[in-house]
Amino acid sequence: MSPEISLRFAVPDDAALLLNIIRQAFQARMPIDPPAEALSDTEMLVSARLSAPGFGVIATVDGRDVGCLLVSLPSPEVAMLHRVSVLPGARRLGVAAAMVRDSAYLLADQGVRQLRLLARSELPLVQQWWAQHGFTPLAEAPLGVIMKIDLPHPIRVPTAKAMHLLGVRLARVLRPGDLLLLSGELGAGKTTFTQGLGQGLGAQGQIISPTFVLSRLYRSSDGPDLVHVDAYRLSNPAEFDDLDLEATAATAVTVVEWGMGFAEQLNSSWLDVQIQMPIDIADQTRTVYLVGVGERWQGFDLEEQLFQEWGNG
Ligand SMILES: Nc1ncnc2c1ncn2[C@@H]1O[C@H](COP(=O)(O)OP(=O)(O)O)[C@@H](O)[C@H]1O
Ligand SMILES: [Mg+2]
Repeated sequence: MSPEISLRFAVPDDAALLLNIIRQAFQARMPIDPPAEALSDTEMLVSARLSAPGFGVIATVDGRDVGCLLVSLPSPEVAMLHRVSVLPGARRLGVAAAMVRDSAYLLADQGVRQLRLLARSELPLVQQWWAQHGFTPLAEAPLGVIMKIDLPHPIRVPTAKAMHLLGVRLARVLRPGDLLLLSGELGAGKTTFTQGLGQGLGAQGQIISPTFVLSRLYRSSDGPDLVHVDAYRLSNPAEFDDLDLEATAATAVTVVEWGMGFAEQLNSSWLDVQIQMPIDIADQTRTVYLVGVGERWQGFDLEEQLFQEWGNG
């Protein structure tokens, strides 16, 4: 079981706490020359950063504050990550990934289009970590390389009908062999979205939630078949293998609800569909983020494809 990681925003009074985490994290790294800027931070500097445009995040595991990061906003469209820090005793729990992911979604929701950071050239493993999390080199900088990730455009989906329609629209850009990984809590609208996809793909029969059968195949009259999987009840990757999705992966469009973490083995490219529920439960609006991962989606302007379609009615 992975531990529960909770995140909160830092307030200027947290400066001493952040400084402590930053120091421990950066002192544990390999020494580099010139030393990481983080090692000369002071409480005043951290506090100043917390008051500037942007925010700080603190990560807690088992009641202990073990990680933090800072985000600055040099422009309304671009954010910079700084001081991504995890205490040496709390490494490999996914703390940094959780902090970065949630910061990215939060920034995307504010209309920020790109998240950047400076990775020192002396630390190839650190650069590799960022690459594994979707960051790519943007430009050479005096001490290393600026890496960036483009943030998804938030798509507001006010009703169940609109969610269905989003699926119908997205179906038009899909090809045989495509893999979609859907995430979002129970009731977020993953199945509703898939029903729209099914309609858009010309799938025959009514698409129902596969929760109890785990996987269903729908034949299509004119496009690729649709394989719809709900991995919610799967407890391990072996059970996922038993579904034998490889058999249809190349010819069908495969949609996996709750597939993050093991469905990636099916294809080196996939479309990450994240559906976020509103904080206010009286609001029905969902926010959807579409991110293409891998070669299939490289250079593919999903946003333009979709919104062009929206515009055309
Ligand atoms: N904006 C919206 N988008 C998607 N579903 C919505 C929305 N507003 C209300 N709903 C309702 O929420 C429920 C979503 O259920 P479902 O698609 O089965 O979710 P999941 O598969 O993520 O568990 C449906 O009953 C749907 O009618
Ligand atoms: Mg479902």
